[in-house]
Amino acid sequence: MAKPLLIQEFERAGQGHVFSFYNELAPEAQKTLLDEAAEIDLAEIDRLTRTLLAKDAATGIDLTGLAPAPYERRPENGGYARAWHDAKTAGEAALRAGRVAAFTVAGGQGTRLGYDGPKGTFPVTPIKQKTLFQVFAEKVRAAGVRYGKPIHWFIMTSNMNHAATEAFFKEHNYFGLASSHVHFFRQGRMPAVTPEGKILLETKGTIAMSPDGHGGSLRALDRSGALDLMEKEGIDILSYFQVDNPLVRGIDPTFIGWHVLRGSEMSSKMVAKAYAGEKVGHFCTQNGKNVVIEYSDLPKDYQEQIDPATGALRYIAGSIAIHILDTKFIRRMARGDNSLPFHRADKKIPTVDAAGNPVKPEKTNGVKFEMFVFDALPFAGNPVVIETRREDDFSPVKNAEGLDSPKTCRDDQLRQFARWFKANGAAIATDETGLPPFAVEVSPLFGYDEDSFADAWARLTPKPSINAGLYLE
Ligand code: UD1
Repeated sequence: MAKPLLIQEFERAGQGHVFSFYNELAPEAQKTLLDEAAEIDLAEIDRLTRTLLAKDAATGIDLTGLAPAPYERRPENGGYARAWHDAKTAGEAALRAGRVAAFTVAGGQGTRLGYDGPKGTFPVTPIKQKTLFQVFAEKVRAAGVRYGKPIHWFIMTSNMNHAATEAFFKEHNYFGLASSHVHFFRQGRMPAVTPEGKILLETKGTIAMSPDGHGGSLRALDRSGALDLMEKEGIDILSYFQVDNPLVRGIDPTFIGWHVLRGSEMSSKMVAKAYAGEKVGHFCTQNGKNVVIEYSDLPKDYQEQIDPATGALRYIAGSIAIHILDTKFIRRMARGDNSLPFHRADKKIPTVDAAGNPVKPEKTNGVKFEMFVFDALPFAGNPVVIETRREDDFSPVKNAEGLDSPKTCRDDQLRQFARWFKANGAAIATDETGLPPFAVEVSPLFGYDEDSFADAWARLTPKPSINAGLYLE
């Protein structure tokens, strides 16, 4: 039988070893391997090998001309209150007009948390133990009711969690959302390679493939037809957030309004970094463009620089991975000449030896390639960065213990509920960090931000006393 063309192409590209065991495989397994191989853009791998993997490839990033990015300060920090007010009005109008959709990137492996299953199915709320997906679903649903337009929600998965994610939503009846408004699509994959650029097999019949990073969302939104659907529905504003952060105001009228009024193609929220070494990206400018520099790429002395005028950190603007994207901009990035760069991550990648025996490497043996969504920023027209309060938008679950863990996230939710109660005249005891001594819970369906909570609380009669176990829905 003639050798499949694809195998010949791999051979020509110096990647013929991918099919070393092909003849030993059963016909279905041969087909699976060919399907995987067909996902790979050999020219792209060749380009990455000659650039990112080259012996003389620049290590570290070019810091020439780097400066902190400007951002819009909140009114209490010197920002212009009128501008914030106008932004909220504009954002509310966009929501009422049905121009906004929510977008969660949920394709990651969640290895740090040590949780088996899609990360969105991890329980986080203090009493009801609602999962991350349920919290987002209820926020999206409640915001749709508030603005009189049901909101579409797009969820990006990856091969390894797509089926489980869809099944989870089905099993829970989409948490009260119309299933026609919840859209799942898979992100792309990239093969892992050796430091010399040879594609690694995972087993004799499978390639070591992994998700192409959250930056892959731009291509995937286009390829999956999600952008077409948005166009049909009159949606041009996509509110992007990560699956790990239940505090996020995924639908924030003020943020949406800044984006709209500035004619921005990509907008972002920043928080003041808590300390110099905090592991977040940094909003910077370079050559007149906005960029995000990861904590791992910004040298320590930069991270520690102090602004003499304020006495605060000079690179203070931490990225909490919350953005708004213009849908035409996404299309342009997905199809145009300005594709996102890949970053290399050196990893231990289980593979097979020349005889096909499994190998569990003790040290890094390969490279994965990932794109980051914030690398789209330098290509965006009129990008705007606005300040947000950490306690209103950011408490991710990343680690099993310690910083950014289920415990810190639970406590931050409790502090938020306590703040909302106090702001509306309800008594609740807290310690000096604002943490109540017992658990209460507010469903997003009751209130999902300061304003929606205040309105619901004002309507509530009689008012409950705030005791251990109180749940408001
Ligand atoms: C990320 C940001 C960092 C930011 C921080 C805030 C990067 C490289 N860094 O760090 O700038 O300050 O969050 O919390 O992103 N994901 C996919 N597909 C992938 C990879 C990731 O959908 O292929 C999703 C994950 O499901 C998750 C999100 O992207 O929702 C973040 O991924 P993760 O790798 O955990 O980012 P961090 O290193 O925590």
